[in-house]
Amino acid sequence: MARNKRIHFLADLCKDYHKVIDIGTDHGLVLKTAFEKGYIQEAIASDLREQPLKSAMKNLRNYPVTYALSDGFLSIKEEVDLAIIAGMGAYLICDILEHAPTNHTHFLIQANDKIDMVRSYLMHHNFKIMDEYLVHDKFFYIIIKAQRGQMILSEEDLYLGPYLKHKVESIPYYQQKAKHIEKIMKKADPERQEELLKMLKIYENL
Ligand SMILES: C[S@@+](CC[C@H](N)C(=O)[O-])C[C@H]1O[C@@H](n2cnc3c(N)ncnc32)[C@H](O)[C@@H]1O
Repeated sequence: MARNKRIHFLADLCKDYHKVIDIGTDHGLVLKTAFEKGYIQEAIASDLREQPLKSAMKNLRNYPVTYALSDGFLSIKEEVDLAIIAGMGAYLICDILEHAPTNHTHFLIQANDKIDMVRSYLMHHNFKIMDEYLVHDKFFYIIIKAQRGQMILSEEDLYLGPYLKHKVESIPYYQQKAKHIEKIMKKADPERQEELLKMLKIYENL
């Protein structure tokens, strides 16, 4: 995996957190970059599979890291200041969040798809969005920073993001989403048209 803008952005968001867990760490590149930049002091690199953990061990051998073979948070007992759950699909991320700590931990969540579903999950499971960031590399990536708490999101917020909608850099992302919806509308079933039209209006009204 390339040392790309998304990895650097995630690493930069670790600044000022002492102990960080990376769930689904794969090669451990977010943690490695955060250590190299001097942003974090301790970490747990965690993954469901052994092979990625072995790659992470190679990349992180010079840093104070412990390793966990774990399905999401299920085998994690230690407290951390920040948990990163990035580079996965929305359904998997929501499954992982089912067992997330209920304490002071902050979360960096970056789903590769269905970001509206992730926001809706957060609203209904006692999470509060603290900020949102857009990274444009080859694709657009949205990173949500969250903590435990209550929030109410409108339908517009679910699609546009309660923080992203106020950021000027989101405009090209919304324009791309609108174009994509227009394209799929041409082939969609009549029942789906109505839903797509509603989404299109949300993205176009900005
Ligand atoms: C595409 S990689 C993402 C790597 C990295 N987080 C990133 O953002 O680039 C997904 C990783 O998540 C791991 N994974 C999948 N399901 C998991 C689960 N339930 N718990 C922990 N890790 C999981 C996979 O083994 C894989 O290493």
